[in-house]
Amino acid sequence: MSRPKILIARAISPEVVTVLEQHFEVQSNQDDVAWSPTELAERLQGIDGVLTTGSQRIDADLLAACPQLQICANMAVGYNNFDVAAMTAAGVQGTNAPDVLTETTADFGFALMMAAARRITESEHFLRAGQWKDWRYDLLAGAEVHGSTLGILGMGRIGQAIARRGAHGFGMQVVYHNRSRLSPELEADCKARYVSKQELLSTADHLVLVLPYTPEAHHTIGAAEIASMKPTATLTNIARGGIVDDAALAKALANKTIAAAGLDVFEGEPAVHPDLLALSNVVLTPHIASATMGTRWAMAQLAADNLIAYLGGQEPVTPVNHLEHSRRSAA
Ligand code: DGY
Repeated sequence: MSRPKILIARAISPEVVTVLEQHFEVQSNQDDVAWSPTELAERLQGIDGVLTTGSQRIDADLLAACPQLQICANMAVGYNNFDVAAMTAAGVQGTNAPDVLTETTADFGFALMMAAARRITESEHFLRAGQWKDWRYDLLAGAEVHGSTLGILGMGRIGQAIARRGAHGFGMQVVYHNRSRLSPELEADCKARYVSKQELLSTADHLVLVLPYTPEAHHTIGAAEIASMKPTATLTNIARGGIVDDAALAKALANKTIAAAGLDVFEGEPAVHPDLLALSNVVLTPHIASATMGTRWAMAQLAADNLIAYLGGQEPVTPVNHLEHSRRSAA
């Protein structure tokens, strides 16, 4: 019997390519060429499963053009690149890569928040530009982190991991807002207090966004929300571009409506709003919150486990949709 055929749409850890080659006929993109949607559809002809990253859009048009495709395994916890309704209607399984990146991503979110609060990159640019001439009592003075109030919008696993860092490591008061409230046990573990979105905005010294992107979450943080934050506050976005209105944020940072921001994700990335690039009070990083080699390996391995399970006739490990009918049973 011939082995299922899979496509690895972007370069991944070579060890995981080797694992996949033990199970499948593998076509891989280890040269990491960014394919257009049309090229992706061409490459997917005759392919049973695809390992995607957040940069391949899987929608109704692509699924109609690739009738053999049975599973899309995303190497990311977020899956806003999937049209999940279209996948379910087409009988195509979707999976994501939760848990394995939680602590690494929380580390980065905390680092970005601290960099914004303590003006780390601004200070480095100042020094490299030869502007450091003398000691001054207020030279590049930033905001306290320890003992301040940490606000978290989106209290899933990554939000909770950031809360623990703040509460247990830095003596911060943690407030959060989420679609659903945590259990009392989890709230106690994170030392976190549930508040309304409005109270979160007005009380946080450092607000970190960790909510998933959905059309309803578009511009959750816009001009009005930023205006209700403290003028000394920082805003950190490690969630997804589009959750923050980047133009409104740039204006607010320029006007000092809030003190600083840390952004790892952007509307229309890899493009970055030019007004943000011109500001010194924002720390900008290129969507790397989960980027350690160990975590990127674990994310790819989990995507591989999903492909191996599903195309081997088992339940996927981390499904994002439930199929009433599937292309797998029809195949
Ligand atoms: C995720 O897993 O959703 C990250 O944003 C990808 O790096």
